This record gives sequence, C-alpha cells and structure tokens, in this order.
Amino acid sequence: MGKKLLFKHIDVPGIKDFTVYRSKNGYEAVEKALKTMSPDEVQEEVKKSGLRGRGGAGFPAGMKWSFLDRKSDKPRYLVCNADESEPGTFKDRYLIEHIPHLLVEGMILSSYALGANTSYIYVRGEMKTPIKILENAISEAYANGFLGKNILGTSYSLDLYVQPGGGAYICGEETALLESLEGKRGNPRMKPPFPAISGLYGSPTVVNNVETISAVVPIINDGGDAYAQIGIGKSTGTKLISACGNINKPGVYEIELGLPVEEFIFSDEYCGGIWKNKRLKAVVPGGSSVPILPAELILKTLQGEPRLMSYESLSDGGFASGSMLGSGGFIVFDEDACIVRNTWNFSRFYHHESCGQCSPCREGTGWMEKVLHRIENGHGNERDIDLLVEVAKKIEGNTICPLGDAAAWPVASAIRHFREEFEWHIREPKESMKRNYGIREKSILGA
Ligand SMILES: Cc1cc2nc3c(=O)[nH]c(=O)nc-3n(C[C@H](O)[C@H](O)[C@H](O)COP(=O)(O)O)c2cc1C
Repeated sequence: MGKKLLFKHIDVPGIKDFTVYRSKNGYEAVEKALKTMSPDEVQEEVKKSGLRGRGGAGFPAGMKWSFLDRKSDKPRYLVCNADESEPGTFKDRYLIEHIPHLLVEGMILSSYALGANTSYIYVRGEMKTPIKILENAISEAYANGFLGKNILGTSYSLDLYVQPGGGAYICGEETALLESLEGKRGNPRMKPPFPAISGLYGSPTVVNNVETISAVVPIINDGGDAYAQIGIGKSTGTKLISACGNINKPGVYEIELGLPVEEFIFSDEYCGGIWKNKRLKAVVPGGSSVPILPAELILKTLQGEPRLMSYESLSDGGFASGSMLGSGGFIVFDEDACIVRNTWNFSRFYHHESCGQCSPCREGTGWMEKVLHRIENGHGNERDIDLLVEVAKKIEGNTICPLGDAAAWPVASAIRHFREEFEWHIREPKESMKRNYGIREKSILGA
C-alpha cells in the first residue's frame, strides 16, 4: 500500500466538515506555521521538499515562490488554479469535493509564506458542487478564526475568495486566468513579464495548482526533508492520478512517484487491469495534451527499463519515444480503441477551445480537425498524413501560450506511433469504418 499524504483521511465520514477535519489534525500546520515559523521558513520547507507544480509543467514550487517580487510596494496575491478543464484530468475536483479544508489550509500556509493578504481560488465555472463545498469550507474557516483578521491572534490576516471560472479551457492557462479574474476575456498574456513580477492587477502574483497548494500541508506538518524522502529523484512526494478509459477501476489515486506504470495499470490497488481482459493498446499518461504512447513504450523505455510514474521516466526518450506526467490524467486504450477517432476527438476539443489570438493555433487547430474528420469518415487522401504532420509542426512553439503545443502533440505523436492505422483508414475506408484495427504487431502485449 503506497503512502497517502493528501488522501490519508479522505475516507473518514464527514471529513468535509470543519470539526471532523480538525479532529484529524486539520489546521495544525497553520497553527505551527503562524505561531512558530516565519514566512521565509515556510518557503524554505517547500524548497527542501522538492515539490513540483502539479498543474502540468512540473516547475519547482519553492523556486517559483522565490521569484515573487518582494521589493514591490504593491499587494501580493496567491491564486489557486482550480480550472481543471483538460480532458482526462479530474483530480482537483475530486480533492475539493472530498476534503476541501485541505486546500483551504494549504491556501493559508502558502499565502502566509508569500506575504499575501488576499487570495483567490479560481474554480472551473461548471463545477457548481465543488464551488458550493469550497464556499462552505471557507465560511467554516472564517467562523473558527483561521481566516480573516489576525488569524489565531497573530498579526497575520487573510481574506480568501472563490471565483467561478469563465467556462473555457484557456482560462486554465495562468495569465488567461488572471485576465478572467480581472473581469476580462480570458486571453493569455505575452510573457515576460511573468506573474511573479506583474500578475493580478499588475501586482506580484503566484499561480499554483490545487494539488500543489494542498501538498504544502503535509510538507509543513512533517517537514520538507520528510516529503523529499518519498518518491524518486527529482520527482518527490505523492501525485494524484485520475485514471480513466478502458480499465477495470477508473478513479482518482494517490501514488508515490516512482511507482512502475505496469503496477499502476494492472494491480488491484489501482486501475485493476484492462477491462474485459482485453489487451493494452496505448496510454495518454498526463491529460489530453501530452503525447500518446503505444503499449510497449508506456510499460518500458526504449532502453528496456521499466517505465515509472515520474516526471523523468515518463519523458525519457523525449517525444520520439516518451511522453509527460503532465497533470496526471491517465487515459488507457484497449485493443479495440480507434486511435484516429480519438485523435480527431482531441483535435475537435482544441479547435473549439483555441482563444484565436495566434494565427497558427486559430487556423491550424481547425485544419487538423477537418483533415482528421475526413480521414476518420473515409474521405482521406494519401497526402493527408504528411499535411497533418506539417500543420502540427507549424503550430508547435509558435504561439503565445502552450495551448498550441497541447493541440499539436497529440496529433504528431499519434501519427508517429500509429501511422499504419491512419494509412489503413485512408486505404480501406469501408473496413476502417468497422473500426477494429487492433494493436500494433510489434506490441509486447500483442504476442
Ligand atoms: C491551455 C492551458 C490550460 C491549463 N489549465 C490548467 C488547469 O486547469 N489547472 C492548472 O493547475 N494548470 C493549468 N495550466 C497550467 C497553468 O498555466 C500553470 O502552469 C499552473 O497553474 C501552475 O501551477 P503549478 O506550478 O502548481 O503547476 C494550463 C495551461 C494551459 C496552457
């Protein structure tokens, strides 16, 4: 059984309520930090922990905090990114719905460390229930003296607000989020300046993911060194993984980073194997934006090493033979899944969600969707595959924000690893409409 830090008490009946959360050592980290530690000491523990941002990019949280402009006389802000709109990723919503006080406690600790007296949690607008649950938890924290003026009788004060999001995936990109929070259309900003220098209302701002901020609670309770002992190499601590697709036990799991991917997919503690005893065909390991990997490359690296659930191991081989841990949205495909159809489906999403500021993304996502649609529907021609590769290349790296890359990578990787399936769709449109290309001949699970 892997170590649980965020989900340690998740099954305790009533843990959503303040009194039950408090009875399970809840808010002890806030007491410890505010009464016995300086803000810099809190930040030091987060640095020592090696905690990396859980929103997708994996940037070290302590280092991001240290970039905050502390010389500015403007107010500083902490903004929690709970927009969570990436297909396949549903861990933050799960955490908020089940143990909201963990996030509230993490927000108090992190705001204290950063010297923020006003903080926001920006929640995807469609998530009505999590918004209500969070608002209730925040009211309870105010009523019990953990938010508001002079928390626990100290000189530290914090107001915490929940802001429902603007209803677009792009609002999860941190600068688009800040625009939206300011009441404007959620368009990403040019960088630099980065939010640490000029963020919300032009003030120094840190934007962190729900899980990143929640992880500060066990880091302060147990110490940064203890946190760093868990995991593997520079992938320290635990990670929430939302697992879905053709598996026996879809759900949200807390894993110790470094767990072998094979164990995650096949053991009963986690995904419980492929449903209906079918064979594994492919996995998108980090949310729809990251490259898809065929069975043989998700279980083992090109060098034959077992693939691990860690930032380094999942990206081993670069994009030629690796992928990314991303936001931990783990999507599993069995032997009957149609890669072309899935790629088209993802492309539809990115085309719909492109904000339209950058031409390569605005136009390119539309082209990719159209070309994939015709291949999927039996009207593809021989040039289409190379055309897709070309368009994906023209988008990648040529946009203000990484939504362009996120749209290009799924297409480029699907063609890289499953080109023969695209060719088959073009060559045999009628057969392919029956949609059972099966798994690749050389798949190690296909023998
Ligand atoms: C299109 C797009 C959508 C994103 N959506 C989210 C999101 O829903 N939640 C999130 O935490 N990060 C999201 N990100 C990443 C954020 O820009 C940012 O890197 C993250 O919130 C930083 O938090 P972290 O350092 O704790 O990971 C998104 C990025 C892009 C380009």
